[in-house]
Formats: sequence, structure tokens, C-alpha cells
Amino acid sequence: MNNKIINFIKKKNKSKIISLTAYSKNIASIIDKYCDLILVGDSLGSVLYNFSTTKKVTLDMMIEHSKSVRMGVSKSLMVVDMPYNTYRNTKEALKNAKKIISKTKCDAVKIEGGKKVYQIIKILIKNKIPVMGHLGVLPQSATNFKFKGKNITERKNILRDSKLLEEAGAFSIVLECIESSLAKEITNTINIPTIGIGASSHCDGQVLVTDDLIGLNKISARFVKKYSNIEKKINDAVLKFKQDVTKIKFPSKKHSY
Ligand code: KIV
Repeated sequence: MNNKIINFIKKKNKSKIISLTAYSKNIASIIDKYCDLILVGDSLGSVLYNFSTTKKVTLDMMIEHSKSVRMGVSKSLMVVDMPYNTYRNTKEALKNAKKIISKTKCDAVKIEGGKKVYQIIKILIKNKIPVMGHLGVLPQSATNFKFKGKNITERKNILRDSKLLEEAGAFSIVLECIESSLAKEITNTINIPTIGIGASSHCDGQVLVTDDLIGLNKISARFVKKYSNIEKKINDAVLKFKQDVTKIKFPSKKHSY
């Protein structure tokens, strides 16, 4: 395991882990100084491309966005989501993870699932590819987006899966939309950091989609807190530009040659 990953794991029980998504250089370079981890999430499918599901996101899309993000990340750990149908078996997973790492120079990949991806994680780790897990609501295979951990069987399975992911060698796990007491139990049981999204403050860290947090993406989910209204700021700036051009106030002499 490399030093960056070891230092990341050491944050567990010391300080809360700050994580956000980025799909391009400009956003990545702004958030890098505040983050421990920047995720190039396949949520870019719905956020940027209006896809109804992350299933339509391709490996090439993830690679191109990640190359851009790489230019903006200097201190945070950079993790790239492996998209749907790119890790159906160990051979496919290894080939595609190697491609992601070599083309994007990211630090790790993230894959969704529990027991099903146990062997895949083991093979990637054996090949020195750090892996982040993802449990709870799994957008690549979900039939509904209801929070998980409502019944005993679901709770037992998710807790079992978290232990399996740790055993396979994952360095951290995203817990998406998981009932609070289950998130607490998982966080207290495993030795690697849990990063929650809709999974309570009991997790070792939190992740949000940056576009949701800054108010650029129209989403109303219980787990999202809108910290800014960038849409309004863009509107104000563009309206001012329009007015200036119309009134021949822009470009002025200062902006001309
Ligand atoms: O795709 C994504 O952005 C994610 C986060 C929501 C954790 O997986």
C-alpha cells in the first residue's frame, strides 16, 4: 500500500475525512485544498449528461473527465469510479482498472458491491491497484433509491459485506443511503474509513456531489445540503454581460487593442 493511502486510512478516529466529486480541472483545483479525497464519480452521467442511469456512462467518458480532473488535483487522493459493465469478472476488471490508472494517473478506483466483487478487489489489490468499495444504495444496479438497512437481513448483509471488502483489501468504503445506526455499527466494526453520503454523521467522512453542494445541479434529495447558489451567481454575471454588450459598455478601451 502506498504512503498516500496509508495516511488516508490513518485519519480514521482522528479527523473527519472530507471528500467531494469533480468532473473537470477547474472545479478540482478549487476543492483540492479542502479535500482529503476527490472522486471522479460516474454520477457525471446524470449531472452532466442527463442520463437517467449511471449504466450509460462509459469507460472512455470516465477516462477523459479524469484526465481533466488530474490537472487540478495536487494534494487530495484521486479516486475514479469504474463504470457499469467494466468489472463483470476479474479479467475484465483488471484490464479496465489498469487502463484507468495508466491513462488518468489516479490513485485508486472505486467499485460498487459486496460479496460479488470480493474476488475482483483481491485481484486488483494483488496488482497494486488500490480499491475503494461502495455499499448501500448502488446506483449501477439499483432498482430503487430507498435507503438501506430497514430490515434485519439487509442489515446483516451490508455489515457482512463491509467486513468482506475490508478483508479483500479495500482501503475505504462509501456508504450510500444507509440507516444511521447501521452506518455507526459498520464504522465501529471495520478498521478502514467509511465515507457517508446519506449515511449519517457516524461515518468517518462525508462525500457530496460538488454540483449539488454549490447549487449547480437541480436535485432535491434529503441527504443533500446546498451550501451556495452558483446558478444565481452565473445568472447575475451573464445578465450583466448581456446588458454591457447591448449598451456598448463592453468591451471598453481597457478590454480592446
Ligand atoms: O458517482 C458518484 O458521484 C458517487 C458518490 C455519490 C459517492 O459514487
